[in-house]
Amino acid sequence: MTAELATPTGAPFFHYQAGELRAEGVSLAELGQELGTPLYVYSRGALAAAWASYQEACVGHEVLVCFGMKANSNLAVLKEFARLGSGFDIVSGGELARVLAAGADPAKVVFSGVGKQAWEMQAALEVGVKCFNVESIPELKRLSEVATALGKTAAVSLRVNPDVDAKTHPYISTGLKENKFGIAIEEAPHAYTFAASLPGIAVVGVDCHIGSQITEVSPYLDALDKLLKLIDQLKAAGIALKHLDLGGGLGIRYDDETPLTPKLLLDKVFAQLQARGYGHLQLVLEPGRSLVGNAGVLLTTVQYLKHTEARNFAIVDAAMNDLMRPALYEAWHGVLPVAPRSSEQTLYDVVGPVCESADWLARGRTLALAEGDVLAIESAGAYGFVMAGNYNSRPRPAEIMVDGEQFHVIRQRETFADLIRGESCLPD
Ligand code: LLP
Repeated sequence: MTAELATPTGAPFFHYQAGELRAEGVSLAELGQELGTPLYVYSRGALAAAWASYQEACVGHEVLVCFGMKANSNLAVLKEFARLGSGFDIVSGGELARVLAAGADPAKVVFSGVGKQAWEMQAALEVGVKCFNVESIPELKRLSEVATALGKTAAVSLRVNPDVDAKTHPYISTGLKENKFGIAIEEAPHAYTFAASLPGIAVVGVDCHIGSQITEVSPYLDALDKLLKLIDQLKAAGIALKHLDLGGGLGIRYDDETPLTPKLLLDKVFAQLQARGYGHLQLVLEPGRSLVGNAGVLLTTVQYLKHTEARNFAIVDAAMNDLMRPALYEAWHGVLPVAPRSSEQTLYDVVGPVCESADWLARGRTLALAEGDVLAIESAGAYGFVMAGNYNSRPRPAEIMVDGEQFHVIRQRETFADLIRGESCLPD
């Protein structure tokens, strides 16, 4: 297949028109030229469409969708979701500060994470988050102390580890016994009884998150089944819950995966809840990747084409510090020339300038390239910019939001001054 015929993973918001890749109505070649690369480009329409796919799947049911903001925490992105009515799943005091800066409603915030510190608990209690997803007995004790000292009550959901295989990459699988996350499901009844006995704690829900980039329904249904059995047990012990949080994890298309749509999953989840007599429970979801992943690309420019005996390298100006997923998970991201050429195609490894062999973005791709060509690394809207760093003293890229024919700079490119801010030398 030639690049001209490729369907971008972000279609229809990213699409070829007259031989040129566009984000909505904006030419990516022109954007790259005007603002420079590497450059993250998001589509506002794609965010809204992903949100709508959840809303449509939830019609007639009581559901709170809390965007797993670790996937993309740019203020403009958060504000878009807040405007659409989203809640937020946060994992740190920093993420709490961001959702508040975006004007989000704290009553729609759930606080996840295995290592919450006292100051983070305090900040969340002061603004009145909906719920803490608590992952251990020591965390419960600390939360009880912090809440009592403030004269507040912390609404708590225990994150249980249902020991199911999400059938995804081991680094992003979280619901197995050997993972650090959650309270083992066998120990959960005891943990609930303990939580219910603590001052400053109100037990309101149950939570799990089994992993990320999940493409099958069965791991979710297995986890749900275990959670419902636990809820039966708790009910018998006089502990009634108000909500059930199934976490995030829905996969997207990076290559040839068949993504699990919200409707495909939720129809089955609602049916199971109904059948087991729990149709009244509020369902909470924490999707990250599936709301933003295919709404963004990373633009990068070919610097050099280097042909060696073993390989052909396209050396580009983006690197592992800008998009860490390939280096960290051997993740596959599509590579599309923004202005495909018809010259002869060659097999390339697309690599960055960082001094590490792990610094590659894509391997073994058939492309027709010349120096100066701009490429779009696809599906970079989730876990892209948020995982970027400054290794090799590389400033982090700018972020752009396209809206129809318009574009907005939603984060400026870092400068050298940004890189050394806060550093100082020893006295002479
Ligand atoms: N809720 C909790 C408690 C989580 O830990 C996560 C993701 C989510 C929700 C959102 O999951 P999602 O819907 O995005 O799958 N950096 C990795 C992904 C790490 C996911 C961590 N937790 C990657 O680039 O693939």
